[in-house]
Amino acid sequence: MSPSPTTLAAFEEAKGFMPLDEGLALHRAAETAAALGLPLLEVGTYCGRSTLLLADVARAAGTTVVTVDHHRGSEEQQPGWEYHDTSLVDPEVGRMDTLPTFRRTLHGAGLEEHVVAVVGRSPQIAALWRTPLGLVFIDGGHTDEHATADYEGWAPHLAPGGLLVIHDVFPDPADGGQAPYRIYRRALESGEFGEVSVTRSLRVLRRAEARR
Ligand SMILES: C[S@@+](CC[C@H](N)C(=O)[O-])C[C@H]1O[C@@H](n2cnc3c(N)ncnc32)[C@H](O)[C@@H]1O
Repeated sequence: MSPSPTTLAAFEEAKGFMPLDEGLALHRAAETAAALGLPLLEVGTYCGRSTLLLADVARAAGTTVVTVDHHRGSEEQQPGWEYHDTSLVDPEVGRMDTLPTFRRTLHGAGLEEHVVAVVGRSPQIAALWRTPLGLVFIDGGHTDEHATADYEGWAPHLAPGGLLVIHDVFPDPADGGQAPYRIYRRALESGEFGEVSVTRSLRVLRRAEARR
């Protein structure tokens, strides 16, 4: 099924970086993964643009989205960098804070109750995590350090048959940074994942079923 019209309108309005075709591919992956009856996890909430689509699926499937972010922005979102948005700076603290905007986004779309927001550093949260996941969507920090930590921290929690979705995978360095591409290659070369779909820079991989 497509996202509800309300979700789609909220997605189009939300601040964020995901184009609609990639968003719809994420939504389809989430629908498939939700059949496992397990939570769907996102690394990199930002203002909730992609979270909306995962939440739309979670509502229909009766599962929950867990979305992880320290809400202080990635490297490229800091002052002076390409993706900085001055309206997202907390004037009192003098640092980025995307949490209030994220909360407004979800509230406006009526999807708050389907999402658990975890505020903190992804590797720290992954180290505490104990629940198998149906989907892991990696869209956090795009340096090698962060992308590798997200892959190593979260991929082991994917249930057999679960989906690993990676955003901003650019095989050609001329198109973008290589860290997400490197974890994508690493997942494929591990032999534990097979490719399900490619939609522009969004890659969907499936974790192999457990051997009998
Ligand atoms: C590219 S944005 C996410 C975009 C969002 N998925 C969307 O579609 O609009 C990346 C986010 O990851 C967060 N982030 C970066 N490194 C992180 C880390 N180590 N732990 C938690 N969050 C992190 C940043 O704060 C930022 O909000």
